[in-house]
This record gives sequence, C-alpha cells and structure tokens, in this order.
Amino acid sequence: MSKTIAEILDLKGSDVWCIAADAKVYDALEIMSDKNVGALVVLDGGQVAGVFSERDYSSKVEVCGFSSRTTKISQVMLADATCVTPETSVDEAMEIVTNSRRRHLPVLDDGKLVGLASIGDLVKASLDEKDVVIKNLKNYIKGED
Ligand SMILES: NC(=O)c1ccc[n+]([C@@H]2O[C@H](COP(=O)([O-])OP(=O)(O)OC[C@H]3O[C@@H](n4cnc5c(N)ncnc54)[C@H](O)[C@@H]3O)[C@@H](O)[C@H]2O)c1
Repeated sequence: MSKTIAEILDLKGSDVWCIAADAKVYDALEIMSDKNVGALVVLDGGQVAGVFSERDYSSKVEVCGFSSRTTKISQVMLADATCVTPETSVDEAMEIVTNSRRRHLPVLDDGKLVGLASIGDLVKASLDEKDVVIKNLKNYIKGED
C-alpha cells in the first residue's frame, strides 16, 4: 500500500499559497517569485476555482499578446482543477498528474482546502518509499531481518 497525500502534508505542511480569480497575472507572478513556488491555487468566493501555474503563464500570456499587468487570472488559469483528498494514495495521485499532464493538485478535505501536492512532492515520496523497500530487501538478503 503506497503512502498517502496526508503523509506528504505531514512533512511539508498544509500552507497553500492562493490568489483570487479576479487578480492580475502580475500579482500571481510576484507571489510565486516571493514564495518560490511554481503555482497558485485560484479561489473564487472562497472555493477552489482552478490552478494558475508557470506553464499557464509561459503558454497563455505574453506569447499570446496579453500583458501580465492587465490579464486576469481567471482568463488564463486551468479552470478544471483536479483535486485529491488526504486519503488519496501517492500512486493514485501520480496516475492523475501523469494522465492529466498537470503538476499541482489541490488537496480538499470535506471540501476544505488543506494543502497542495506537486509532482515534485509525489516523486520524492515515491522514491523515499522505494528506498525503504530496497533497504529492507538488502537486509533480508544479508539475513539481518
Ligand atoms: N527534494 C524535495 O523534497 C522536493 C520536493 C518538491 C519539489 N522538489 C523539486 O523542486 C522542483 C520543482 O518542484 P515541483 O515541480 O514539484 O513544483 P513547485 O516548484 O511548484 O513546488 C515546489 C514545492 O513548493 C510547494 N508548492 C508549490 N506551489 C505551492 C502553493 N501554491 N502553496 C503551497 N505550496 C506550494 C510544492 O508542494 C513543493 O513542495 C523540482 O526540481 C523538484 O524536484 C524537491
């Protein structure tokens, strides 16, 4: 049984950097740069409305002739936010990011935003898990377990 998203959040914390849907793209870039993150969860009326990521900026703003200072987040965000729950397994979440080609998954518990899991978090959790399996197998082979 693979680790869960809850175990990732236990380690990285449940702070989530967010932005309002009607804020400007430039405001999001400032927060992302300040907090050193690649995406923000977009809120509209307190509800998760989407995710705005570096990829949305690079593919939908300046190259399409928009300005980050006048374009609203709601115009360029990924509106169909695929969310997971704390009980979702890391394997399931890896499948979601792989199949949907998204890199950041908001975590909802009973509809409340309780964290964010990025592709980097998932890869790290998966590698850590494999390290433990390899260590246990080595000990087994050496007869230490
Ligand atoms: N070694 C580690 O523990 C670790 C963990 C995650 C990512 N990384 C590395 O960082 C680089 C980029 O990572 P990424 O693609 O996962 O995305 P990223 O740069 O957006 O995320 C980096 C970290 O910030 C967190 N984060 C991102 N947006 C957030 C938000 N809005 N609110 C709260 N937390 C937020 C992520 O969960 C992750 O822990 C990669 O090179 C990856 O390997 C390393």
